[in-house]
Amino acid sequence: ASYENIKVEVVGSKKNVGLIQLNRPKALNALCKPLFVELGKAVNDFDADSNIAAIIITGNEKAFAAGADIKEMQNNTYSSNTKQGFLREWEDISNCGKPIIAAVNGFALGGGCELAMLCDIIYAGEKAKFGQPEINIGTIPGAGGTQRLPSYVGKSKAMEIVLTGNFFDAHEAEKMGLVSKVFPVEKLLEETIKLAESIGTHSPLIVKLAKQAVNQAYETTLKSGLQFEKSTFYGTFATEDRKEGMTAFVEKSPPNFKNE
Ligand code: HXC
Repeated sequence: ASYENIKVEVVGSKKNVGLIQLNRPKALNALCKPLFVELGKAVNDFDADSNIAAIIITGNEKAFAAGADIKEMQNNTYSSNTKQGFLREWEDISNCGKPIIAAVNGFALGGGCELAMLCDIIYAGEKAKFGQPEINIGTIPGAGGTQRLPSYVGKSKAMEIVLTGNFFDAHEAEKMGLVSKVFPVEKLLEETIKLAESIGTHSPLIVKLAKQAVNQAYETTLKSGLQFEKSTFYGTFATEDRKEGMTAFVEKSPPNFKNE
């Protein structure tokens, strides 16, 4: 497929990592609807492609994404938002079964920060700047900022971020647990590809189950999350890859996972 607002390529030494680069540099990758339609399609295509183990979403050195496109939504109304299901395309990202890693250099603001939080892991370059500045323009986060941020960083931090609109840097983001690692700007993408490749050495089937299980921790009670985990854990014993993994360990040989 050819895209106008993103660039898509397959990377990694085994060509099993799907890389999506947001590509509206003049607007600091503001997330207009056409961009999100393309992003959703690219994610769905990689999710359906059995050669792809993990997906990376990145931007450029200046911006991961500076938010929803303010110029595009400036004249929206309550009724137009409701009738058109404004931001509906965003659900394609959270419906993806494969791991998605955000590689954030530069600004990840508003919807940009929320897009990063829709991903499963966030790696950041040391000049990254995060924030939920919607309050500055008379609105509030609309794609998870008031819900995911508190569950990832706690209430006091989330309130401070959402109520002030202040930006915070990559090291603060790491300290609060939003970001898992910080790298020099020019190393970020390479390190993110390494992470994706390392996930790609495992059984894709089991990776998918593991992702679903971790996500339960954010979606349900501890009791039903533990029940989901236990059922899924038991379920891995119905797979060839579980048998292969344990047999290979006992035989001291590398596993050869078949995605079965
Ligand atoms: C549309 C944007 C944009 C955005 C930047 N641009 N952010 N256009 N929507 N969110 C455009 C600018 O208009 C400008 O284009 C160009 O990108 C460069 O931006 P500058 O402001 O000139 O750059 P700089 O001075 O370096 O400042 C960078 C910045 C600032 C601090 C990131 O651009 C900024 O504050 N942007 C808005 C951040 C924000 O409020 N995001 C939240 C959006 S609301 P022109 O053509 O004018 O020169 C949101 C709601 C989420 O995300 C709801 C759910 C998704």
